[in-house]
Amino acid sequence: MQKLKDAILKKVRLYYKQAFAEKKWRPGQTYIPYAGRVFDEREMVNLVEAGLDFWLTAGRFAQEFEREFAAYLGRERAYLCNSGSSANLLAVAALTSSQLGRRRLHPGDEVITTACGFPTTLNPVLQYGLVPVFVDVKPGTCNIDPALLSKAVGAKTRAIFVPHTLGNPCALDAILTVTRKHKLWFIEDNCDALGARFDGKLTGSFGHLATGSFYPPHHITMGEGGAVVTDDPLLGRIVASFRDWGRDCWCAPGQDNSCGKRFSRTFGSLPPGYDHKYVYSHVGYNLKLTDMQAAVGCAQLKKLESFVSRRRKNFDRLYAALSQYRDCFVLPQHEPQAEPSWFGFTLMVKKDAPFSRTDIVTYLERNKIATRMLFGGNLLRQPAYRGIKHRVAGTLKTTDRVMNDLFWIGVYPGLTEEMLDYVIRTFAAFFKSHGR
Ligand SMILES: Cc1ncc(COP(=O)(O)O)c(C=O)c1O
Repeated sequence: MQKLKDAILKKVRLYYKQAFAEKKWRPGQTYIPYAGRVFDEREMVNLVEAGLDFWLTAGRFAQEFEREFAAYLGRERAYLCNSGSSANLLAVAALTSSQLGRRRLHPGDEVITTACGFPTTLNPVLQYGLVPVFVDVKPGTCNIDPALLSKAVGAKTRAIFVPHTLGNPCALDAILTVTRKHKLWFIEDNCDALGARFDGKLTGSFGHLATGSFYPPHHITMGEGGAVVTDDPLLGRIVASFRDWGRDCWCAPGQDNSCGKRFSRTFGSLPPGYDHKYVYSHVGYNLKLTDMQAAVGCAQLKKLESFVSRRRKNFDRLYAALSQYRDCFVLPQHEPQAEPSWFGFTLMVKKDAPFSRTDIVTYLERNKIATRMLFGGNLLRQPAYRGIKHRVAGTLKTTDRVMNDLFWIGVYPGLTEEMLDYVIRTFAAFFKSHGR
C-alpha cells in the first residue's frame, strides 16, 4: 500500500509543477492582487495524504498543527476551528461560561473595542448581548489609541477585544496596564498579524485568549481555518467545549473514555452514570475543521517565518519609494516596541492633497493594482449595526477619516521585484499626472 501511496504523491508533485508552473506576469495586464495563497507541492502532498487517510474530520494533521502552532506562539494550547470569525466567536463565548464563576461575562457587560476593523471582531460581542465601547484609533497605525483607553473604562467594563490592525501590533504595554489595573479580560484578534512582535514577544501571546485566521489572504492559509490560543487550561477546555457541540467530554474525534469515568459521574439532573460523551455543559456549536485543511496548514506553518520576512521586505521597499509622497499621504507608523508582520501597506490621503482617495484608487485599479479599504471603515455606519446598543468613548473622528480617506495595497510574499517596481512606477505616473 505504501508503494501505491508513494506513487500517487509523486504524481501530485509532478502535477503541481505542471499545473501551477510560474505564469508570466505582464505589467498593466496581469492583476496584482493585494494578497493570495502562496504554496508549492508540499501543501498539495499534505492535502492528498490527508485525503488518502480519509479520516475527514480533525485528526492527526489537526493535532500536529495545534501542537506546532501553540509552540510557535509560546502558548500552552491551540484549538483549531473553521475560521478566524469562529475563533473570535469561541473566544467571546468562552468568557461567558458559568465555569468561570464570578469572572464570567454577562449580557450588558461592556467590551472595549474599535469600530475601525473587521465585523467579526465585533459580532460575537453583540451576539452574546455584551455592549461594545468604541474607542478611536491612531491615524498612522489604525489601532486603538492607547491615550484614550483608560478613560474608556466604565463601571461595567469587563474586557478588551481588539485587532492588531493589518499586522501592526497595538500598544500592548498600555493595554496590559489597563487590563491589569481594572482586572479585565483581554482578547487579541491576531487574525491579520501572525508573526508580529511587541517587545520581542509574538502577538497572540499577550491576551488571555488570542485568535488567528487561515483564510487565503492571511499570513498562512488552510483555505478556511482559524485557531484560539490560551495558556489557561480552564479557558482551553471551555473553548473546546463550545467548539465541539458544547459537550463536557474532551475526547478527540474517534476516541472514547479518555477521562476514564465515562459512565461513573453525575451531571445536572441526568441519571447517574449517564454517558459523558453526551453531557453538554455549554450551549455550543460545531466549529471544527477537517484534517484536509489542517494538513495544508501544517505545510504552511513551516514557511511562516520566510513569509513574514518577505512581507517585511516588500513593505520596506514600498515605504522607501512611497515616502516621498508624505505631503499627500499619512504613511504607516508603528509603536516603537513593535515589529509588525505587515498584512498591507496603508495610505491615508491628506485633506489638502490635490486628489481624492477615489482618484488614486481608481487609477491603481485601472492599472491592475488591487486596492482595499480598511474593511468596514467605521462599523457603526454600516447598515448591519444600525441601532445596536453601544457606547462611544470620546469621538470616532480618526475612524471616520480612515473610512473616508484610507486605502491599502498588498505586500504579500507572492509579489515579485518586478511587480513592486511596477507598483512604484504607477504611483510615479499618477503623481506626474498631478503636476509632479
Ligand atoms: C482582523 C480580522 N479578524 C477576523 C477575521 C475573520 O477571519 P476569517 O475570514 O477566517 O473568518 C478577519 C478576516 O479576514 C480579520 O481581518
